[in-house]
Amino acid sequence: MPHFTPPTISPPTEELGILDSLRAMRENALNILPQIAFTQPIVSGKTGFKRWHMVQGPEGMRQVFLANADNYPKADVITRMLRTAVGQSLFTSEGAAWRWQRRAISPVFAARNVNALAPIMTRTAQRACERIEANGQTGPVEMVREMISATFDVICEVALSGKDHFDAEHYGAAITQYMLTAGRASLLDFIDAPLWMPRPGELFNRDCVHTMHKMVKQAILDRQQSGARQEDDLLDYMIKAKDPDTGRQMSTQDLVHNMQFFIVAGHETTALALAWSLYLLANDQAVQTRARQQVQSVLSGGHAASLDDINQAPYLEQILQEAMRLYPPVGFLARKARDNDQLYDREVHPKDTVFLNLYGLHRHQDYWPHPNQFNPDHFTPENVGARDKYLYVPFGAGPRICVGANFAMMQAQIILMTLLNRFHFQPAEPTPMPVMQMTIRPDPGINLSISSL
Ligand code: HEM
Repeated sequence: MPHFTPPTISPPTEELGILDSLRAMRENALNILPQIAFTQPIVSGKTGFKRWHMVQGPEGMRQVFLANADNYPKADVITRMLRTAVGQSLFTSEGAAWRWQRRAISPVFAARNVNALAPIMTRTAQRACERIEANGQTGPVEMVREMISATFDVICEVALSGKDHFDAEHYGAAITQYMLTAGRASLLDFIDAPLWMPRPGELFNRDCVHTMHKMVKQAILDRQQSGARQEDDLLDYMIKAKDPDTGRQMSTQDLVHNMQFFIVAGHETTALALAWSLYLLANDQAVQTRARQQVQSVLSGGHAASLDDINQAPYLEQILQEAMRLYPPVGFLARKARDNDQLYDREVHPKDTVFLNLYGLHRHQDYWPHPNQFNPDHFTPENVGARDKYLYVPFGAGPRICVGANFAMMQAQIILMTLLNRFHFQPAEPTPMPVMQMTIRPDPGINLSISSL
């Protein structure tokens, strides 16, 4: 049986001019990828006076992420887009400010801690099923919205002591507002205007950022006052986190910025991985049936999945990995060269922008046999073992690899397994197209017809 080929963009065959590039950046950044970004390991160019290189080959990824990582700090464009909301957090800082936070935060996400959060994820998966069941009575269900509710529910439970002190709806509306304005690269970002100059989106942002900060801060203060609890969650781990070298702990402000980042970045990315996975399964019934057989061999009745259950259903992990190959939630990363270097046959100069094109890497014609087809067997242990590991990097790589990867994969597997044990999915109109602003989202969403098993 042929594999399903899901929708993607049609790359322009000619290079776009500056105005067309800017328009494309605002509407859908995937539209600026030329055809050769899927056939060459590197593409270089100049926009105005700015030199840039776009890397989509594994050797280049390894060099920027790992071998010469010190030469490639994050581009200010990215930190600028996020700075109002997450200040100098782990994600947005560099050098010594990053190093101590990384030493303190890495153990927070150790397997032992993340595994202890699994029962909360199981309960929220159960609640997601109840919501979907109710919403699916009257017709197709929009799954991005459903998955965002599910992963937001998880992060509220594990990060902000449930909803006792916290109005999740109010906070969710502020995040949506923030994403609508901050997620768009502005012209000022592109031409490198100084950092102190407010960006158009930033002015609209201030109110929603203030709302988010106030609520997160209140949750932290409440927790600091309430003292020891029976079971620790993510916020307790963060309050206790310490740099093992110096003993330094996070101030309330550090906690606000980092928790804020976990909440905003952690839940949307995971929800997108889940929504795309369900879209692919709905369109490939053979894979959906195979996945459900594995689920039902582990779970009896309509139970929600636990940590032990997901460990017995490796095919589901393969499906999620394949969905993140085709639609990496973070499709592009940007770095700025500090010093001279060479990437493939290109001279890199100080201040050149280096884009890491994960979308192009994951669909590159030289490295993947049928790059645009949905085939979870790309992730069998044999195929993974035979492949350069820098060909698949949805969580980044090297010293700045995502700290939340285990957390994200565990919650996604628990939710996906629970959903497949309860529902059958079929595609409904309209067909979604991938659109990249801050993340790669389906436009206008993912509508699926759902029937209970
Ligand atoms: C499917 C879900 C996720 C995806 C695809 C994802 C992707 C990424 C990527 C690509 C990076 C590297 C950025 C770079 O090198 O410039 C990153 C970093 C990071 N991620 Fe995630 N992420 C996900 C979920 C999460 C979750 C759930 C959390 C926390 C609860 C999280 C927290 C972070 C943090 C703090 C960093 C910065 C690490 C550092 O710079 O040292 N992420 N993520």
